[in-house]
Amino acid sequence: MPDTLTVTDNRTGKTYTLALHDGNIRAIDLRQIQTNPDDFGVMSYDPAYTNTAACRSSITYIDGDKGILRYRGYPIEQLAEKCTFPEVAYLILNGELPTPDQAQDWNEHLMRRTMLHENVKKFMEGFHYDAHPMGMFISTMAALSTFYNEAKKVLDPEVRKLEVLRAISKVPTIAAYTYRHSMGLPYVYPDNSLTYTENFMNMLWKMTEPVYKPNPAIARALDILFILHADHEQNCSTSAMRGVGSSQADPFVATAAAAAALYGPLHGGANEQVLRMLDEIGSKDKVPAYVAAVKNNKGKLMGFGHRIYKNYDPRARILKWAAERVFEVTGRNPKLDIALELERIALEDDYFVQRKLYPNVDFYSGIIYQALGFRPEMFTVLFAIPRTVGWLAQWEEMITDPEQKIARPRQVYTGKALRDVPARP
Ligand code: SDX
Repeated sequence: MPDTLTVTDNRTGKTYTLALHDGNIRAIDLRQIQTNPDDFGVMSYDPAYTNTAACRSSITYIDGDKGILRYRGYPIEQLAEKCTFPEVAYLILNGELPTPDQAQDWNEHLMRRTMLHENVKKFMEGFHYDAHPMGMFISTMAALSTFYNEAKKVLDPEVRKLEVLRAISKVPTIAAYTYRHSMGLPYVYPDNSLTYTENFMNMLWKMTEPVYKPNPAIARALDILFILHADHEQNCSTSAMRGVGSSQADPFVATAAAAAALYGPLHGGANEQVLRMLDEIGSKDKVPAYVAAVKNNKGKLMGFGHRIYKNYDPRARILKWAAERVFEVTGRNPKLDIALELERIALEDDYFVQRKLYPNVDFYSGIIYQALGFRPEMFTVLFAIPRTVGWLAQWEEMITDPEQKIARPRQVYTGKALRDVPARP
C-alpha cells in the first residue's frame, strides 16, 4: 500500500495525491490544492496547534491515552527510581545515560559554573522586596545574555555547549537568589563540593552554620521532582523556546522567553494556583461544593486536565509516592488530604470523566514544595530549574535540524478588504 493520501477538491473535481511521511502529511503540500492559478492554495488552520507537529524530535515521547512518558526511550518511572537528576539531564541533552566516567566529568563541569557575576546580585537587589520570584527568575535569566556576549554565536557547536552548561549550572543559583531575596536573607554562595541538588539546598537554606549539611531524603526528593519536570516534548514553554530560538536569539533570552510562558497559570504557574485553590477550599468537607462550582463553570480545577494526557499523568502518580517520602521527614502536609478527596470525587464525577480530566504534574508538586518550606510563589521557579534542561535540549535539536528555520506561521485574514483613507477636510 503506498504511503499516500488521495484528496478530491469538490470545488473543482480535481484529485491530489499527498505523500505521507511517518504517517503525516506535510502542510505545505496542501498549497497545490487551488481553485485557479491565482489561488494561494489550501492551508491547515489549527489554533493552539492542537493537531500540528511543528518539528521532529527524538527527546521525549508521550502517549497521552496510555499515560506514558519516556525520555530518550527510558520510562519516567525507571529514571525517577534509578537515576540522579544530573544523569537524566545528561541523557536528555546527549541522548544516552552517562557512563560512570562521563557522569563524573559532567558533574564536575556542572558544579564549576554555579557562580553568578557579582553584578547579577546588584541587578537582583533592584527588585521590590515582594517581587514575585518567577518575575525575578525570568528577568535575571535574560540579563545573563548581557554577561555572555559570545552566546550569540548560536551556530558554533562549541559555544552552544558552553552556554548550555552555563545556563544549567546557574539556574539553581538564580532560583536560590530569588528565594533569599523574597525572604530578606543574604545570598549564599554555591558549595561546589555538594551535588547539584544538595548545592541548591545549601544556597536556599544555609543560615549561620559554617557548612550546610543537606538532608539526604530531602535531596533525593528534590532530585526526583527535578527528573519529573525536566522535559515534556512540545509544551507551551518549549514551543516558546523553539520559536524565539529560531530567530537565532541567544539561549539565555530564549530560555527567559520559555520561562515567561511557563509562568502562566494554565502552564507551570498552575502549581502555585493549586495551593491557592486548596487554601480556598479549606477542608475536605468543602470539596463537594467546590467541585459543584467548577461544574457550573465557576473556575477550573487547577492541577487537573492536560492537552496530551487523557489518562493519569504518570508524573502525578510518582509525585503522590514522593509526597509520602517527604512527609516522613517534614511531617504530613494536611493539604494532601484535601487534594486526595478532590481527586477521589473528581475521578468519580461524569463531568471530569467525560472530559478526561485527571491530575497532572502540578496537582501534587505544590503540596510537596509547601511541606519543604517553600511559599507558593516559588513553585514555578522550582519547575523552571529542571525544565531549563529540556528547553535547552529542544533548542539544540531545533538549531541543528536542517529542516528548521525562523518560525513564521501563516494566518487566515478576517479583516477589512481594501479601502482608502477618506479625504481629509
Ligand atoms: C502543565 O503541555 C504540557 O505538557 C504542559 C506540562 C509540561 O510538563 O510542560 O504538562 C505542564 O502545564 C500541566 C497543566 C497545568 N495546568 C493546569 O493544571 C491548569 C488547569 N488545566 C486546564 O487549564 C487545562 O486542562 C489545560 C490548559 C491544562 C489543557 O487545556 P486544553 O487542552 O486546551 O483543554 P480545554 O481547555 O479545551 O478543555 C476541554 C474541556 C473544556 O470543557 P468544555 O468547554 O468542553 O465544556 O475540559 C474543561 C474545559 O472547560 N477543562 C476543565 C479543566 N481543564 C479543562 N474544567 C475544569 N477544570 C480543569 N482543570
